[in-house]
Amino acid sequence: MNGKRILLIIGGGIAAYKSCELVRLLRKQGASVRCVVTASGQKFVTPMSLAALSEDKVYTDLFDLKDEAEMGHIQLSRQADLVVVAPATADLMARMAAGIADDLATTLLLATDKPVLCAPAMNVRMWQHPATQRNIATLKSDGITVLNPDEGPMACGEFGPGRLPEPEAIAAAIAASLNTSRPLSGKHIIVTAGPTHEPIDPVRVIANRSSGKQGFAIAAALAEAGAKVTLIAGPVSLSTPAGVTRIDVEAARQMEGEVNAALPADAAIMVAAVADWRVDEAPSKLKKEAGPPALNWQKNPDILANLCAAPNRPKLVIGFAAETETAVEHATAKRLRKGCDWIVANDVSIDKMGGEQNRVHLITNAGTESWDRMDKTAIARALAQRIADALA
Ligand code: CTP
Repeated sequence: MNGKRILLIIGGGIAAYKSCELVRLLRKQGASVRCVVTASGQKFVTPMSLAALSEDKVYTDLFDLKDEAEMGHIQLSRQADLVVVAPATADLMARMAAGIADDLATTLLLATDKPVLCAPAMNVRMWQHPATQRNIATLKSDGITVLNPDEGPMACGEFGPGRLPEPEAIAAAIAASLNTSRPLSGKHIIVTAGPTHEPIDPVRVIANRSSGKQGFAIAAALAEAGAKVTLIAGPVSLSTPAGVTRIDVEAARQMEGEVNAALPADAAIMVAAVADWRVDEAPSKLKKEAGPPALNWQKNPDILANLCAAPNRPKLVIGFAAETETAVEHATAKRLRKGCDWIVANDVSIDKMGGEQNRVHLITNAGTESWDRMDKTAIARALAQRIADALA
């Protein structure tokens, strides 16, 4: 953290006392800390203590003309490498999510062009309230990092998630945010994920067991590495990763249309389990009395193969192949058949689809690399690093 500048915004909560320790820890690790305390934050911790610990002026009021003369709020928000909100109260996060700027803290948060990290702290019921969870989802999709609160006994006597993480944990998250290299910044990457649903009639579909987790993890890792990510997702129940543009689709032909509309791109990672076949859709609900339906099967477009053959093909196109047997052989042949640069073979005979882990083999024209069985997020990060190397 040597030489890094942190703007620490302290909201009003009993956990604000921990922010004093956070200032001390960050400074010990070489960072400089400039504090902003909200009006309610000042009920829990005094600007004087924070000024002594940070050895800097503490900012409290948007309309303090002396502050504006010394340093405008825009400048204050831009001079940091990272803006940290700790404790981030339910109210402060709600105002952030709504884009309200009615005091110094929220004005800085709206004006900043720097990464923002929130460490929430509040009563367990407030944390679990749908309004808070909705606001947190909004903040995450705006690209803000929101730490999970700790679970345990609370100052109000209740028990559960909502406690401010310990200062050491917040400092570690700050260090991780500051050290994130963004090797994919300036690159546009398309990711497809999840299953497709092919309609049979207005109420029935042909589906598959893809959970979308691996594709969403890849989209998240690419965004973390700085890429502009367009995630084209089949029907899944997953939340949109931070900083990712998501387009929801149902059927294969719709997915192909959105992939083409998202071009040009530097890379495309086709993780979706696209249905190879669709049927002619009945205009009204099929009735049981009519007997077993005669389904008229049609071939779906091969989105990956078509993209590889397109004139505006991305520089790097990666396919995925979930196989139940001889994964490497099948996937090697698939790579050549479809014309993609790399294919990731996923042995679904080991981990059932929908789990948290995968065992994959990365097949390129240089050969096959078999990776250890690991979490889908770890696979995603390793793949993002390889993509960054290939696009560098
Ligand atoms: N794929 C695609 N469009 C399709 C089918 C597959 O884009 N209509 C992509 C997938 O997203 C994946 C790769 O092709 O990246 C391999 O998918 P897979 O279903 O394993 O390949 P298939 O060609 O359908 O082969 P199989 O006979 O094993 O189903």
